[in-house]
Amino acid sequence: DDPADLKPRPPVVTVMGHVDHGKTLLLDRIRKSNVVAGEAGGITQHIGAYHVELEDGRSISFLDTPGHAAFTAMRARGADITDIVILIVAADDSVMPQTIEAISHAKNAGVPMIVAVNKVDLPAANPGKVKQELLQHDVQVEDYGGQVLAAEISAKTGQGIDDLLEKVLLQAELLELTANPDRAAHGAVIEAQLDVGKGPVVTVLIQKGTLRVGDDFLCGIYDGRVRAMLDERGKQVKEAGPGMPVQILGSGGVPQAGDAFQAMDADRAAEIAANRQRLDREKQLRIKERG
Ligand code: GTP
Ligand code: NA
Ligand code: MG
Repeated sequence: DDPADLKPRPPVVTVMGHVDHGKTLLLDRIRKSNVVAGEAGGITQHIGAYHVELEDGRSISFLDTPGHAAFTAMRARGADITDIVILIVAADDSVMPQTIEAISHAKNAGVPMIVAVNKVDLPAANPGKVKQELLQHDVQVEDYGGQVLAAEISAKTGQGIDDLLEKVLLQAELLELTANPDRAAHGAVIEAQLDVGKGPVVTVLIQKGTLRVGDDFLCGIYDGRVRAMLDERGKQVKEAGPGMPVQILGSGGVPQAGDAFQAMDADRAAEIAANRQRLDREKQLRIKERG
């Protein structure tokens, strides 16, 4: 893309941390506090990604991956889509094995981390101990002589979450995240499943370009045409630009997380899809023969 065509885009954020340190509650809290009143009760389904818009118009996309395995699998498939990792550490439990694993994932991926010291509402919380222990793993937070941004939060009470989001946006500014919105859409499959009524439902993070209803596409081994697009609340949207996650109806099959998604001419998409499906069948056969 020509640098002149690049425009700012929202950061894409993944939350990682040890089991029970509060990843799910944090994501729920952020989502709900940014949902327009009246819609909050409507969220029941699990969604692989969502987008929050702050009052000043800035926005952040969150990937709600079920854990480190998913993050690694997506990376292995070439879908390096996370800009920032929020490393969540419970202040009553401190640094644990999966905290250390998350640090190494983020470092290997070259993705900057922001530390969220969670559960500070608990009497046993010791944020200083968390920050001290992180030093032993080469994570130096701001007030411990380092550059890593950190926020003390409670996913339960909501305390500190505005500060955390502010720091995410600050980090995003430093990264100068841009993409060209005026080209054929290109993105990555976050998750996909077969819905009895809707057919294949594919959650895609758009990385470049703008996707519109009616666009033809290739995704993994399937082709399709966007029949409808839904946001995380099931509301229909007409288009989605860079940094936006969106649920797409109209895929010819259910692709895999991490598969590439590309808007393209229908004939070309059909031809590539047919080739990929043939190769896929041959591969499955070989696996079967080997037992
Ligand atoms: P896994 O997905 O199992 O790895 O856990 P998780 O990291 O998603 O943690 P989850 O959000 O499920 O929280 C684990 C438990 O900690 C739940 O009982 C939460 O209610 C509780 N919890 C999470 N954040 C806070 C917090 O800030 N304060 C308090 N007191 N409890 C919290
Ligand atoms: Na849990
Ligand atoms: Mg969870």
